[in-house]
Amino acid sequence: MPKPIHINLFIQSRGHHETAWDHPGADKRSLMDISYYVDLAKRAEAAKLDSIFFADVLMMTNDAMESGRFWPDPVIMLAAIAMQTERIGLIATGSCTYSEPYNLARQFASIDHISGGRAAWNIVTTWVEAVAANYGREHTAHGDRYEMGEEYVAAVKDLWDSWADDALVDDRSGGGVSGDLSRITPIDFKGEYYQVKGPLNVPRSPQGRPVLVQAGASDRGRDFAALHAEAIFTAHLEKETAQEFYRDIKKRAADFGRNAQQVVVLPGLNPVIGGTEAEAKENLMALNARMDPEVGRRTLSQRFAGHDFDHLDLDQPLKVSDFPEPEGLETMKSRAALIVRIVDKEGLTLRELLARFAGGRGHYTTAGTPEQIADLIQDWCDPDSAGGPAADGFNYMPPVIPALMDPFIDEVVPILQKRGLFRTEYEGETLRENLGLDRPASRFFPD
Ligand SMILES: Cc1cc2nc3c(=O)[nH]c(=O)nc-3n(C[C@H](O)[C@H](O)[C@H](O)COP(=O)(O)O)c2cc1C
Repeated sequence: MPKPIHINLFIQSRGHHETAWDHPGADKRSLMDISYYVDLAKRAEAAKLDSIFFADVLMMTNDAMESGRFWPDPVIMLAAIAMQTERIGLIATGSCTYSEPYNLARQFASIDHISGGRAAWNIVTTWVEAVAANYGREHTAHGDRYEMGEEYVAAVKDLWDSWADDALVDDRSGGGVSGDLSRITPIDFKGEYYQVKGPLNVPRSPQGRPVLVQAGASDRGRDFAALHAEAIFTAHLEKETAQEFYRDIKKRAADFGRNAQQVVVLPGLNPVIGGTEAEAKENLMALNARMDPEVGRRTLSQRFAGHDFDHLDLDQPLKVSDFPEPEGLETMKSRAALIVRIVDKEGLTLRELLARFAGGRGHYTTAGTPEQIADLIQDWCDPDSAGGPAADGFNYMPPVIPALMDPFIDEVVPILQKRGLFRTEYEGETLRENLGLDRPASRFFPD
């Protein structure tokens, strides 16, 4: 049996293409109708996908009106979805920079209880500069965000560990107690940024700790991910950079004394599928033809910390000097570097770059038949691939839901199943079991 592949469904708007929200093939329901998200989760569960995922941005983004991207609280969405599903993993984003460890630890422990052990936290440090104004703050520098994040994650883990698994006794025999205080401990966490007394006010959750997901990609971010993350989201425009990332992140995890197999690497995949290769390419071209380059310009500007791209001609080849130096940015250094690299390598015009970006925002976008997409998935995950594997699975980003998601669920997944690469039944009841991740012992109650 080959190594099983993991697939997460990344849900955003009515699909990831920036024009998906009003595409004729998009779901007709309101984006505030929870039944839309519940049905998607049920669909993913019927296909035996590992998990669903909601990103989060703590402001109204500047493309909201033209791309239908709104941000209802993802943790609350998961609570609703948990009640109507049984096996699918539930991943929500939570910001270390704009929340307190106690609130977050409590929320995710609660979702883990509500879902019977299916919760995961996508740890972000929030790169969008304008968010700071919603919290009466200045934007925190890239390195400082990660320093704060280190402390934050340590405090959250301690809070989750503050109850032993057997601390909840619920002894109702008369004169009994509901919990064993000797198996619950304060954490007395004292850091530079956070002080947390503990214990948590929620008993230890079914997975011990919800699964930790992260997407750091800069040098500092990779260390953070390699040290903490059990699943890693990552964005690549080429297999080659994905292979480099895979090698590097597994090595960093091993250097931190971790078992690198306990780190599941999931690059984004944004496939436009058609019955034939020509039809798939037409589908992609038709999608990009709907794009408004001015919306793309604004999104690109946000990626580069507000840099002005307005003076650039849409149809002139871009130069590296048209972009600010990625390392000097305090936003998302790695994605900026990815964009500059592809501009340098392929000599794209601004229009071409924006088209590339409109679908996957820097994630791998391709057009092909179901067989070709299955081949690509198999190839990237092949441990014997020349240059090494690029992935343990994928963060699947449907371009338009449901029109361009149906062929993935109905055709690509069954091909992978037939090849023995993807499960036909869930391995277990918790997300940890399905991702092949160990259940961590409490730091305070290791027995
Ligand atoms: C699939 C994926 C999803 C992400 N979701 C979010 C998100 O919801 N909110 C957020 O602020 N950042 C999000 N990020 C950004 C990452 O947290 C991180 O900032 C980014 O990968 C850049 O890392 P770097 O700052 O180390 O370069 C996401 C990244 C990826 C690849």
